[in-house]
Amino acid sequence: MYWLQSFSLYLAPMAGVSDAIFRRICRELGADVTQSEFVSAEGVLQAWERTKRYVQIGEGERPVGVQLFGANAERMARAARVIVEAVRPDFVEINAGCPVPKVVGRNGGASLLRDVELLTSIAGAVVQELRDDCPVTVKMRTGWDARSICAPEVCRRLEETGVRAITIHGRTRAQQYGGAADWDMIRHCASLVRIPIIGNGDITTPQDVLRERDLGAVAGVMIGRAAMHNPWIFQRAKALLTTGQLPPEPTAQERIDLLLWHVRCAIGSAIYGDEACTMRAMRARILAYAKGIPGSKRLRPALARVGSYAELGELAAILLASADAG
Ligand SMILES: Cc1cc2nc3c(=O)[nH]c(=O)nc-3n(C[C@H](O)[C@H](O)[C@H](O)COP(=O)(O)O)c2cc1C
Repeated sequence: MYWLQSFSLYLAPMAGVSDAIFRRICRELGADVTQSEFVSAEGVLQAWERTKRYVQIGEGERPVGVQLFGANAERMARAARVIVEAVRPDFVEINAGCPVPKVVGRNGGASLLRDVELLTSIAGAVVQELRDDCPVTVKMRTGWDARSICAPEVCRRLEETGVRAITIHGRTRAQQYGGAADWDMIRHCASLVRIPIIGNGDITTPQDVLRERDLGAVAGVMIGRAAMHNPWIFQRAKALLTTGQLPPEPTAQERIDLLLWHVRCAIGSAIYGDEACTMRAMRARILAYAKGIPGSKRLRPALARVGSYAELGELAAILLASADAG
């Protein structure tokens, strides 16, 4: 995990977002490390043919991790082995942060923060299974809720299992995505363990990245929603870190060009099915790219219903004209 030796920028794993195409875009725009969206250990073990499309790793993407969720140490270890043999990721990550009922209801994701014994036994089993074949990391929240903040204890316990790095999203499960990420807690955890801690939550500007690099507690920052809206954040943050100069925001033309290119790649790759299925899968992405372009608010209802690439091209032309006029 050579990238842990210097302050690095990570694209967050995001279900339905951090597919191979978006990972490549973010790598080209300066992300040092990316990750697949999470896959369930049971999906890997029982429905590999259906699940494997989520963990395919393309050319030029590395380093890239695959994230796994589950609640059974032996099944998680077996699933991690299947993934390592199939796609040779640069690391396997255990999800201990997902708040959605479908996952916590089966004792996975953030639910593991309520059972530190189970979480450490899963981490230990996966580390033992993979040994020198592949490093293991964990992504977690600060705790289940405000009354049960457990990140300091969990980080210490996880370090003993042999995991190589931990990402902390500075919110509890109860907060979901509300409130502010608790960066004091993230930095405190980083001071307690020797393994690298990567901070996550509410990094929205290159200046946020610079602040954390200069404070020196975390080994890197992970960016999710801000990258979905504006993947140039990696490039601009990198420039700020290395030269002290902040490049301008991308132009409306650059944003629209990337949006169209991304959708063309998605249609071409067929990872979401035919063109109609792809357009449906891409609508949230299209809206995220368009957000902030002058005139985009007026076009949102149409963009939210766009059904074909030809229609998207027409809307993009209107958007560009209104951005130029504005
Ligand atoms: C659409 C979406 C999907 C997500 N899927 C995952 C996931 O599969 N695994 C995971 O660990 N976190 C997932 N997350 C959480 C993010 O990785 C990240 O922790 C969170 O968005 C906070 O970072 P941010 O403030 O930079 O967005 C997801 C978040 C979003 C918005």
